[in-house]
Amino acid sequence: MTEQVSDALSQTTLDELRELAGRYPQARSALLPMLHLVQSAQGRVTTEGIAACAEILDLTEAEVSAVATFYTMYKRRPMGTHHVGVCTNTLCAIMGGDEIFERLCGHLDVGNDETTEDGQITLERVECNAACDFAPVMMVNWEFFDNQTPESAIEIVDKLRAGETVASPRGATITSWREAERVIAGFEDGRVDEGPAAGPASLAGLQIARERGWEAPPFQAEGPQSGRVSKSEAVAEADTRRAETETVTEQSAADVRSEETEATDD
Ligand code: FES
Repeated sequence: MTEQVSDALSQTTLDELRELAGRYPQARSALLPMLHLVQSAQGRVTTEGIAACAEILDLTEAEVSAVATFYTMYKRRPMGTHHVGVCTNTLCAIMGGDEIFERLCGHLDVGNDETTEDGQITLERVECNAACDFAPVMMVNWEFFDNQTPESAIEIVDKLRAGETVASPRGATITSWREAERVIAGFEDGRVDEGPAAGPASLAGLQIARERGWEAPPFQAEGPQSGRVSKSEAVAEADTRRAETETVTEQSAADVRSEETEATDD
C-alpha cells in the first residue's frame, strides 16, 4: 500500500470513516478505529479529524477530543515514519529495557516522545505490552521485537532509517506507522499471516501439557450453596438470586413508603 502524503482528509478517508461507523450496531462504538484511520491518513489526530469523527458519529468535538487525549496510542503531534516503543515497565526495565531506551536516546539524539531530525523514528517509552515472557521487548509500529539488547535495538533502528527490510520475529514485515494504523483501524493489508503468531516462550506451557497428556477440566463455576456446578446451573442460580434481590428491594421500598405514610398520618 502506498503511504498517503496529503495532510488533508481525502474524500476516500471520509468515506472509510463512514464505513467504519456503519460496522457497529451503535455507530459511536467505531470511534476508536476511526481515530486510528485519521492517524493513518494524517500522521496524527488532527483538529480536522476530530471534527470529522464528531460529525459522523453525532458526538461533540469535546467528546471525541476527550477520547483522543486519553489513550496513549493516539498522537496529537506529527509522528515519524516509524514508531519505536521500548517497554520500560517493571519486568522489561529490570531485564534491560531502561538501558535499551537510554542507549536509543543517545544513538538517535532524541528524548522520550521525540522524533529524529530525519523524520524517520519517533521514540517512546511504552507500558507493558503483555509480552513479559520475551522481556525486554521493543515494538516497531506495534510489531513485537523480543528479547532485545541495546545492540540489537540499535541495529533495528539503523536498518529502518536506511530503508532496509525489517521483519518482526513474531509478526509481519515492518511497513510504516501510518500503514500499521490503517490495519489497526480495520483495513487489512494482507500481511496478517506473515511470521509466527506465537513464540516458544508463550507456547512452553502448552508443549509441556501435551507431552504429559494434560487437558483442561470441563468448565465449572462455584455455586454459593451447592458447591461446584455447571455453567448453565451457575447462570440459572445467578438469575434466581437477582430476582430474589429485586423482590426484597421492592418490598423494602414498599415498607419504607408505608412507614412514611403512617408517620405522616400520625
Ligand atoms: S513488562 Fe514489558 S512486556 Fe510486560
